[in-house]
Amino acid sequence: DFTAKADSVLALMTLEEKLGQLNLPAAGDITTGQAESSNIAEKIKEGKVGGLFNLKSATKIREVQRIAVEESRLKIPLLFGMDVIHGYETLFPIPLGLSASWDMELIEKSARIAAIEASADGINWTFSPMVDVSRDPRWGRVSEGNGEDPYLGAQIAKAMVKGYQGDDLTLENTIMACVKHFALYGAPEAGRDYNSVDMSRQRMFNEYMLPYKAAVEAGVGTVMTSFNDIDGIPASGNKWLMTDLLRDQWGFNGFVVTDYTAINEMIDHGMGDLQDVSALALNAGVDMDMVGEGFLTTLQKSLDEGRVSEAQINEAVRRILIAKFKLGLFEDPYRYADPERSKRDVFNAEHRKVARKIAAETFVLMKNEGNVLPIEKKGTIAVIGPMGDNKENMAGTWSVAGKFDQAISLRQGLENAVGDKANIIYARGANITEDEVLESRVSIFGKPTYRDDRSAEVMIQEAVAAARKADVIIAAMGESAEMSGEASSRSDIEIPQSQRDLMKALLATGKPVVMVLFTGRPLAMKWEAENVPSILNVWFAGSEAGDAIADVLFGDVNPSGKLTATFPQNVGQVPIFYNHKNTGRPLPEGEWFQKFRSNYLDVPNEPLFPFGFGLSYTTFEYSDIRLNGTSFEGDQKLEISVELKNTGKIDGAEVVQLYVRDLVASITRPVKELKGFEKVFLKAGESKTVTFELTQEALKFYNFNTEFVFEPGEFEIMVGGNSQEVKSTRVTWK
Ligand code: IFM
Repeated sequence: DFTAKADSVLALMTLEEKLGQLNLPAAGDITTGQAESSNIAEKIKEGKVGGLFNLKSATKIREVQRIAVEESRLKIPLLFGMDVIHGYETLFPIPLGLSASWDMELIEKSARIAAIEASADGINWTFSPMVDVSRDPRWGRVSEGNGEDPYLGAQIAKAMVKGYQGDDLTLENTIMACVKHFALYGAPEAGRDYNSVDMSRQRMFNEYMLPYKAAVEAGVGTVMTSFNDIDGIPASGNKWLMTDLLRDQWGFNGFVVTDYTAINEMIDHGMGDLQDVSALALNAGVDMDMVGEGFLTTLQKSLDEGRVSEAQINEAVRRILIAKFKLGLFEDPYRYADPERSKRDVFNAEHRKVARKIAAETFVLMKNEGNVLPIEKKGTIAVIGPMGDNKENMAGTWSVAGKFDQAISLRQGLENAVGDKANIIYARGANITEDEVLESRVSIFGKPTYRDDRSAEVMIQEAVAAARKADVIIAAMGESAEMSGEASSRSDIEIPQSQRDLMKALLATGKPVVMVLFTGRPLAMKWEAENVPSILNVWFAGSEAGDAIADVLFGDVNPSGKLTATFPQNVGQVPIFYNHKNTGRPLPEGEWFQKFRSNYLDVPNEPLFPFGFGLSYTTFEYSDIRLNGTSFEGDQKLEISVELKNTGKIDGAEVVQLYVRDLVASITRPVKELKGFEKVFLKAGESKTVTFELTQEALKFYNFNTEFVFEPGEFEIMVGGNSQEVKSTRVTWK
């Protein structure tokens, strides 16, 4: 039906107008790449634009849409895109934080609210979800993904697509999603953004592809290419990737858009001139060209020279027109831009309330020696550190539509929570880092970090004086928001020295210290883990950060987040991830070093904090695993149960995790793979049986020939509260 409609439009189009539909310029309000698009209004009138992104507000978008549907020859409406990544104006935690909630309902809800807000302002297409699996915290964009696990990443991909797109894309409050960055963008060599990727097909399919595939299966409308090469061919020109795999094998039927100038960048990859790389991209199966205008300016010539076919151009145009029909834009081009709805829906109290609740669910209690947390709302509480009174940095990277000035800082959140029951005092204590050059580099998407011109000594003295007056110290430290994110790779992932010096001075006061850790990546924070009694990792929690953090610090909410990416002891361990292979010379468990074994001289193999880890104000006890049998065949179902008990005095939630190890196979297999999880809420003293079901399907993997197969044999079944502490048993499957 949509195809016929698209074809009826296609039949009216000149070649120039067809190439125009493939063109996606960027427009001014927001900057998300280096090149700028020019003369946009003119181009729209001439039918040379298919969609536009980075424009913000219902009125502006209505005006631009008016030009398209009133002043261009064919009156084809435009798509309006934006990087609505973790919320629109109501900002949720960064995706890495959201993933730590392990709560698919809440994650879907965050995307739903983002869609409601963005669509009211005219956006009908978001460049989200970003589902790149990554095991390298040096890479700045770990903040924007769901961590290191493909199975969890796949569940989140589905939840996000559902949240944005709902069941009916024509509704005024659902928007089209774009899964990115296809593919393997999270595995750049040395963690340096945009760097080359090279991996075996086995690793690719068993460990990295699952989340993209899940998004396709969930009906994602569009796919964005990645900047990197794969098997020596940049993704945007890789026919195997964009056509053979994505369309022919996975059945994707939406359209493919490049990342920002990714076609042009194939020139620097060494694939030819602009005409060459544009033809390469189109022939690979790319439909829309973001910003670079290679399609617009060279495809006519390539067609004349027989290097591309009109059929291929028509196919790309058809896919884009179908998307516009699916969104209902031909029926009502202004459907998604409604100033009245915008006033009502965007950044409203209800959405902010949900954002606060979701944020609190993402925090990970990393350490709580002597139960310093939760603290009481009484006495004097000192908030100390560069993140303590810093609204601009609460929301985190990729918050392009955010209202930073209205975000709740930690200091504000604590004051809101205590009212007149306690006295909150504040001292900055340190700059984020003493490296001003580094700080000046991280200001592209968000606000630059505010710097204090006083000397480190003076700031520390002031902080210590405040700390001495306090009953408890809340040390707000870590990275500023844009120290992670795009083009924010770091080779040193420790807490900057300026803050470590401050922390030492605070600890020396002898007062109880809680570190509230702001970070967009796993940090190598061994010193802090060893020396600070209590650490609450709050990532970048969004517009309601301060209130949500206060909820957890005071125990109104019991923390239940669990890490979705391993924290290393030092950067030399990177990449370190729970689902690694065993090697032929594994180290016996619990040992640090043996000669001629796979280990380091200077650091144990263990991470600082493992995947799946997170504490609570209560404690949970796991029973041994119960099974419905130990020997299975064919399509029988394996039922795995544990009894979980809240053994503490406080109600709380636990993420029960199921891992499997395939003990013998035709290729080497990971020591553990996540195969299921359930977030369970238990009142103090309460118990519950948690049951997982596994079928043969869940035990399949891609073999040496990249066939997805089940191989009979013995499997270790593990259940626990993190990837290291598990109960274990075995089954055989014929
Ligand atoms: O969507 C983004 C992408 O993730 C990185 N480059 C720019 C795009 C559009 O802003």
